[in-house]
Parts: sequence; C-alpha cells; structure tokens
Amino acid sequence: MEQDRAELQRQREYIGKMKELLREEEILLGRKETYHIETFGCQMNAKDSEKFAGILEEIGYLPTEEETEADLVLYNTCTVRENANEKLYGHLGQVHSSKRKKNPNQRIALCGCMMQEPDEVATVRTKYRFVNLVFGTHNIFKLAELLYRMKTEPNPVIDVWEGTDEIVEDLPAVRKYSFKSGVNIMYGCNNFCSYCIVPYVRGRERSREAADILEEIRSLASSGVKEVMLLGQNVNSYGKTLAEPVSFSELLKSVAAVPGIERIRFMTSHPKDLGDDLIDVIAKEPKICRHFHLPLQSGSDRILKVMNRHYTKERFLDLVRKLRERVPGISITTDIIVGFPGETEEDFEETMDTVRKARFESAFTFIYSKRTGTPAAKMPDQVPEDVVKERFDRLLKLVRQIGEEESGKLKGRTEDVLVEEVNKQDPGMVTGRLSDNTVVHFPGNESLIGEIVPVLLKETRGFYYLGEEVKPE
Ligand code: 5AD
Ligand code: SF4
Repeated sequence: MEQDRAELQRQREYIGKMKELLREEEILLGRKETYHIETFGCQMNAKDSEKFAGILEEIGYLPTEEETEADLVLYNTCTVRENANEKLYGHLGQVHSSKRKKNPNQRIALCGCMMQEPDEVATVRTKYRFVNLVFGTHNIFKLAELLYRMKTEPNPVIDVWEGTDEIVEDLPAVRKYSFKSGVNIMYGCNNFCSYCIVPYVRGRERSREAADILEEIRSLASSGVKEVMLLGQNVNSYGKTLAEPVSFSELLKSVAAVPGIERIRFMTSHPKDLGDDLIDVIAKEPKICRHFHLPLQSGSDRILKVMNRHYTKERFLDLVRKLRERVPGISITTDIIVGFPGETEEDFEETMDTVRKARFESAFTFIYSKRTGTPAAKMPDQVPEDVVKERFDRLLKLVRQIGEEESGKLKGRTEDVLVEEVNKQDPGMVTGRLSDNTVVHFPGNESLIGEIVPVLLKETRGFYYLGEEVKPE
C-alpha cells in the first residue's frame, strides 16, 4: 500500500511534467494537441481506455474522433483471437500513410494485451518502426511517465512488464457515460482454459480491496452514476486471494447498499465457481440486473475436459435451471467456441443439444483461433476450416432461432428502462435498456438520458421493444 501511494505521487509528478511540456508545444504549434484512443476487445480494455483518457485530458490533450489526424493515437489492443491482431495491423497501415502525409509530428502508441506477446512486439519493432511507444497491461498506471519518456528520448520507448502485484488507485479517469460505469474488481486470470491467451497477457488473478471498490462506487454514485458493471475475468472467484477474504456475493450485497446505485451488472462469471450463495443474492436483491452471462464454450464433456473448464454439460444445465427457477425473468447469455482441436461431429452435437436445452436469450459464437503459447495450439487434430465453418453456420442459425423465440416475452408489461442515448435513427426517440439488458426505443428527448423511467412495452421487433413512457398521474 505504502509503495502504491508513492507510485501514485510519482505519476502525479509526471502528469505535471507532461503538462509543462504540452504547454510549451502549444506555443510552438499555435494550438492544443489532440489525442485519439482506439480500443479493441473487451470491457476491461474499455475501462483501461477511460483511465488513459483521464490522464491524457489532465495533461492537457484534447479528444478527437479523427484517428488519422490526432497528434497522439493510442491503440489499446486485444489478442484473444487472431482477427483482433489483424485489425490492429490494418489500422497501423492506415495511420502510417496519414502520418507521412498529414502530420509528421503524430505520435503512435500501442498498449494492451497484444503487446504482452514478445512475437508481436518484435513485429512492431521491425515492420512498424514509426511506432513511438509500446507498453503492456501491467504498467498502464505509468502512462504519464511513459509519454514523458516518449517525448524526451530519441528512440521508441518499449516497456512491457511480465507481471505486477501493484494496483495503483486514484488516478484520474474520463467516463464515456455520465450515468453508468465499469468498475474493476479484479485483474488477471488463473484458470488457464487451454485455448485462452488471457492468463498469459493479463497475468495472475489479483482482487482489489473491497473497501477501495466501495469507495470508488460511492464516489461514482455521488457524481450521478446509477449503474455499475463489476469487471473481472472470473468475478465468481473474487476476493479469495485477499488478506481478509471477501466473497463475490458479499461484495454484491455491499454494492447494492450504496445509496444512488440502482443497477448492478457483472462480467464475467465462470460456471465452475458459480455457487448457490450468488444465485441467492441475485434472487433477493432487485438492484442486481436480471441478466447473467455464463460462458459455455462447449457442450461436450470430453472437450470441456480438454479445455480445462472443470464442469460438465449436466452441471452447466443445472446452473441454468437453477438460475431460471430462482430468478424469474432472468436472461442468460453465453460464449461458445466452435472447432476446438479434436472436436468431432458428436462433440458438436452435444453443444447444439446444450443450446437447445439452455435456450440462451443470446450467444456470442466464435470460431476457435489458435493462440501461440496456449496448450491447445499444440494439440493434434486441428479441425479443417470448411468443417468448422459449416458447424459455425449451423450453430449461429440455432442460436438466432432460439433467441427470436425467447424474445418479446415482456410485451404488454411496464418495465424500468435506463435511458442511454437519443435514438441514432430517429431524434424524436430515445434508447435504453431493461434490467435483462434488452434494448427499448420510445418517444422522448435528451433530458431523459441517465434517467430510469417506467415504459410500457407495446411492440416487440425481434431483439428490441418499442414502448411508451408511463407518466405518473
Ligand atoms: N478462440 C476462439 N474464441 C476464444 N475465446 C477465448 N479464447 C479463444 C480462442 N482462442 C472466446 C471465449 C471467451 C470469449 C471472451 O472469447 O468464448 O469466453
Ligand atoms: Fe480465458 Fe478461461 Fe480465464 Fe476466461 S476464464 S479469461 S476463457 S482462461
């Protein structure tokens, strides 16, 4: 803790130094410098990007949507599947040509999960030499210091750590929404699912102290936040490594008691650690949203074992049954991987069968992507591409069909909607979400953004509702 406070002080000093540097540059340039952050991947990265934006704005950078024109472009990368990596290189190609033509002073920084892979950093060093700064997932709190080095040292700065125990609290952040916010409750992952690169790039599981989490949530609530999303790779194992262990369900109860917080979401749960205590808290606490994301990955016991998932199809279906029984109206979503090494037609049929029985409201389906360094990458019997594609299409069709059949169940009822934005197509409408995460559009204006309003769900259109605000008499 002492050490973390000292680090916070150090970073504040670097923010000060960068402020001075930027003021000098502003005089030379005759304008303020701008930044653009491009975020790939999950909610965890989105949250980190808000922290980056907070530091950059404190330093004096102005935000811009123009990726190719910004003075500083920061790519917060993802590497969970190969196509995430390809996307980054696509962006780098584009920004390189604009840097040469439009803004030779443009600075390019890369950070996030992909930068924790030595092979990728080597590629950046040799083929993308115009990149000015590279850092990873463990030293993000050092952004100000890294930028200062980037500005003052002649060579590109590459600073990727293998791991860290440090959790630096209280750095500034800019929130994308005024009324909802992600809150990290833990970092890293210890599960080592055999296909997954996350434990290698995000390091070992570390929980934040419950007191720190609650303090952050209290402060968010006092600035108008109504909905929090508690973030971690495996929230169900929250708190196990703390000096004074706290369970995730205990944490949820404390969060629900924070005045002003009306809705609580969390992401992601691992089925192996989902206990009855958590289902009990969800059933009893109306502030916890009626939506549960429970990644299945595969319905075949044999594949689940090789994936190192520690549950069976039956245990998974039991959890789904329990959740639906104890929490009426809950919507359950999932992640599924198709084409894991050695997956046979029978294994795939088990996945299809699980989907039919679980009846997910929606599902993210992924084609297995080989990640260097993971045990699955070395497994024999990688499934041929055409077979995977054909299975993927069959799964997607089933998932969509069930999703459609399950949708619209709340039609005719009046339900609370947290309004998120003015409708993108129709400025006379606003868009928000129900507790179960379904989107609702209804007539309204900007003044409703961030409000929770009762809405009569009049019509259903597949995956969303059209409604009308119910005003008090
Ligand atoms: N290939 C395909 N999908 C993957 N996921 C994680 N690793 C891989 C991989 N190598 C999926 C899992 C996880 C989600 C975030 O991404 O389904 O739940
Ligand atoms: Fe990856 Fe498994 Fe950890 Fe999720 S639980 S991040 S899939 S290793």
